[in-house]
Amino acid sequence: MLHTKLDSFPNEFLWGAASAAYQVEGGYDADGKGPSIWDGFTKIPGKTYLGTNGDVAVDHYNRYKEDVSLMAEMGLKAYRFSVAWSRIIPDGEGEVNEKGLQFYDNLVEELITHNVEPVLTLYHWDLPQTLQDKYGGWESRETIPAFKKYCRALFERFGKKVKYWVTFNEQNVFTAMGYRWQSHPPNVSDLKRMYQANHVINLANAEAINLFHELVPQGQIGPSFGYGPSYPLNARPENVLAAENNDAFNNQWWLDVYCKGEYPVFVMKQLEKLGIAPEVTEEDQKLLLSAKPNFMGINYYHGGTVRENRLENTVETDVETKEFSATDPYLMQPKNEQAQSPEVPMFESVSNPYLETTEWGWEIDPVGFRLALRRVYAQYGLPIFVTENGLGAIDVLEEDGTIQDNVRIEYLEKHLLEMKKAISDGVEMIGYCAWSFTDLLSWLNGYKKRYGFVYVNRDEHGEKDLKRLKKESFYWYQHVIQQNGENI
Ligand code: BG6
Repeated sequence: MLHTKLDSFPNEFLWGAASAAYQVEGGYDADGKGPSIWDGFTKIPGKTYLGTNGDVAVDHYNRYKEDVSLMAEMGLKAYRFSVAWSRIIPDGEGEVNEKGLQFYDNLVEELITHNVEPVLTLYHWDLPQTLQDKYGGWESRETIPAFKKYCRALFERFGKKVKYWVTFNEQNVFTAMGYRWQSHPPNVSDLKRMYQANHVINLANAEAINLFHELVPQGQIGPSFGYGPSYPLNARPENVLAAENNDAFNNQWWLDVYCKGEYPVFVMKQLEKLGIAPEVTEEDQKLLLSAKPNFMGINYYHGGTVRENRLENTVETDVETKEFSATDPYLMQPKNEQAQSPEVPMFESVSNPYLETTEWGWEIDPVGFRLALRRVYAQYGLPIFVTENGLGAIDVLEEDGTIQDNVRIEYLEKHLLEMKKAISDGVEMIGYCAWSFTDLLSWLNGYKKRYGFVYVNRDEHGEKDLKRLKKESFYWYQHVIQQNGENI
């Protein structure tokens, strides 16, 4: 019934899919590529699932033509990929490597020839190792001019061919994982360093946006943020306040800087009291204010539910819920450790009693997607490009060569419906990139956790033949694109 009242997707809506260099390319030292921090980190015993790494990944570096031809067959309108900085500038700041540029030139040409709009991410976590060793990576302002040089090389080479650009992918996730949880490089657990690195990345983001607008005035650029709506466990005012605090620390802390050019007062004040606030100069403030993204990229997987932190108030007035146990990159900390976290005893993560979870414990929450789009649009007023959304699952290759991933279809269909409702609510949207096009390396979960429309015949034990096989969801998404979502 409700469906008939929904708006149609815009005619130019970009139905896409996404990936990231380290997760698909392989060719870790091909054609002069330098090492990135992920090349080293994945070799530390115990850091990734069964020691999996992206040395070969799904060999997109050599098979990009086959992959793009599958995109064309699907009718994909946009493909979001990231560039490996250390292919372009192997030591991060020195000579530009023409062969590295050439690979992306070939990929972009192939996409354009097949009518697939390229969406280029500048940074999806693979910092050149040399910058980490020499300067301490994102903790140092010296990394900013290196990033600008890398961006300039890409803007000059691809500015006329690529319209949509993403600066940083999930700054909130990679700083928390890298500097709080020691589960990403640089493998650190130090909050002051985390907030400092985060500030340097904000400056680099602003510099990249300003340079882009100077060199590619006809293009569009924005960061991609890992957004999760914040829910109170119930209507108890203390819990509602906790949800506000969670939203401030886990969303506004980044979104305000990206979209308004300033840090939110509330969070900054807490960090100052604790002596872990970043050093922000007047020059920095001016720079942040000057950079204006054209859109907000949103990666949506799920939100987070919180209650008042019981360290602050031990009165037990809530109905107990299950312990929230997953180490979850979309919340700054898992529940038990959060209670010991020095900087924010202002909320405590709990599982949402109304939501089912995936095999990896991630809550499945399509309505939260509508809420996410609505909230971000209402607060910041920028068009939204959904740059990731998808289901990680164990897919089974049947003897007849089919992959019946109906669970993924159901997941995506529910999310698309909520997105359509958000559009009908008035949210301005550019497109939607499902995560992911082919199966790829999950940073910490190897090849067991699959996201693709296209199955890749490899696993954590070996590369097998790396054959591409279309899953059931491939045909489903092909149909959605053909219909421009009218069947949703
Ligand atoms: C996002 C990242 O965090 O989620 C992707 O941008 C990542 O690179 C995706 O693969 C899914 O995460 P995971 O841990 O399930 O692979």
